[in-house]
Amino acid sequence: MSRRPEDPPLFYRAHVFCCTNERPEGHPRGCCKGKGSERLRNYMKARAKELGLKDVRINASGCLDRCELGPSVVVYPEGVWYTVRTPEDVDEVLKTPLIEGGRVRRLMMDAPASATPSTAD
Ligand code: FES
Repeated sequence: MSRRPEDPPLFYRAHVFCCTNERPEGHPRGCCKGKGSERLRNYMKARAKELGLKDVRINASGCLDRCELGPSVVVYPEGVWYTVRTPEDVDEVLKTPLIEGGRVRRLMMDAPASATPSTAD
């Protein structure tokens, strides 16, 4: 799917959805909130503001159905999924995809097998 000439201008350049879904203790799929996603999402929102990313929207979301790989974050329009566990991970997701335009391969859920696990590009 691509944009058409008659489409209105983008309101946001990018959306970041951070799953903050909570499930009861012991649920077989677990949940992102139980892995600290709410704290990480709040940190991401605050850091995006500090960095002046006014054209990027950081949204809390319900379950994104990738629970086992969470805390789950997806960046659109690229549609690249990340496992974001720490504030340092958040910083990388803000800096690399949203400022520099690359990917944080070490955090990607679906990184190609040929990707170098510990580098960003
Ligand atoms: S609970 Fe976060 S992806 Fe399902």
